[in-house]
Amino acid sequence: MKLDLPRYTERFGATSLHGVQRVFELDSGFDDGAGRSMSETIQRIGNEEISEIERKMAIVIPIKGELLRLLEGVLSGVPHDCLTIIVSNSPRQPVDRYKLKKDALEQFTRFVGRSAIILHQRDQGLADALKQVGYDSLFDQDGLVRSGKAEGMVIGVLLAKMAGKAFVGFIDADNYVPGAVNEYVKIFSSGIAMSKSPYTMVRVSWIYKPKMSETGMYFSKWGRVSETSNQFLNSLISYYTGFETEVVRTGNSGEHCMSISLAELMTYSSGYSIEPYEIVNILEEFGGIIPTVYQDAMDKGIEVMQVETRNPHFHEDKGDDHLCDMMVASLGCIYHSKICPPRLRDKILEDLRGRSMLVEGQEPEVMLKISPFKSVDIHQFAQVLNKAATSYTHRE
Ligand code: GDD
Ligand code: MG
Repeated sequence: MKLDLPRYTERFGATSLHGVQRVFELDSGFDDGAGRSMSETIQRIGNEEISEIERKMAIVIPIKGELLRLLEGVLSGVPHDCLTIIVSNSPRQPVDRYKLKKDALEQFTRFVGRSAIILHQRDQGLADALKQVGYDSLFDQDGLVRSGKAEGMVIGVLLAKMAGKAFVGFIDADNYVPGAVNEYVKIFSSGIAMSKSPYTMVRVSWIYKPKMSETGMYFSKWGRVSETSNQFLNSLISYYTGFETEVVRTGNSGEHCMSISLAELMTYSSGYSIEPYEIVNILEEFGGIIPTVYQDAMDKGIEVMQVETRNPHFHEDKGDDHLCDMMVASLGCIYHSKICPPRLRDKILEDLRGRSMLVEGQEPEVMLKISPFKSVDIHQFAQVLNKAATSYTHRE
């Protein structure tokens, strides 16, 4: 892959937030001179280096109600050497939609000879394994893992760590274009290759999110929620630096990856607020405003990269109520952050009330938090899980 080097970087404590980088070539050939800057502005990551990183990467696919056909397309786009981890919250009655996906995955992995894991997030065996290791921030009142996208993703990261992977990427199950999925993973690996820190996050910025209109296809650039979340995340940074910025362009990016070393230190916010809160939490934890116990990460620095795709993003349209929930959750996690200045809180309330998403006197709901899992005994977790859960694992 050939990409430009970040043109500017916003530094916030130990965190470097790089501006959006563009892809010039999706495949830049083999490795002579790989990983080195070709000029002052362009970097080439060769195929060998990308493959090496893919072998150390797990791709987590959270899935709820999507059709099997969509999932099959996504699976076909994940590079062969990555471990695929599906964390499902699909309904099990009247038809067991989890079983359908498990059977399809089993057939696929045997057919193409690759490694994969699938697990239902409300599995009793999974809850038992989490209880055994004392990691209790994912449970609901039934003693099972709560429903929610973030909850599914965190289970996915635990499974990636359990499998000994160094990196974990996330890709939604409702992507219509397998070639785009493949590009996301190449972007993840290229970002990891370019980072100078072991604590890295790479976020995908879509070039277009096309919509059908009466006059044909319209290639819109901005998502309805992400534009607003980006604006408030940028304001949060500006309040501290004193300089307005537009560095954040991937506030809601579902497609992103992290090194496990970073992922295990983070606190997550539940449901759909996970992506914007990842940025907020990095600023809270490593921004130098609040003390942290993670001195090694402070010493080595956190790098957040944002890379714009070549493929447009086609996914399922889930309707206006869903967008409203996502907007309130996204801005709510900024609003309730301990580093959110009072003036920004007022602006968030004003914005959400202006859109009639909150009424006068109402505040965004406080989202549940998911604690860091660095200290979880992953071997003990694996032992219990392998005995108890109705997961399916195929290893090549
Ligand atoms: N395991 C699991 N558990 N997966 C879930 C759950 C859950 O409770 N809820 C949703 N998912 C899965 C869906 O099946 C889908 O594959 C993925 O998470 C994204 O959910 P969507 O409902 O399709 O969300 P979206 O397309 O509106 O929003 C996506 O893009 C946003 C940026 O535009 C999400 O990735 C958002 O988190 C993201 O901010
Ligand atoms: Mg979607």
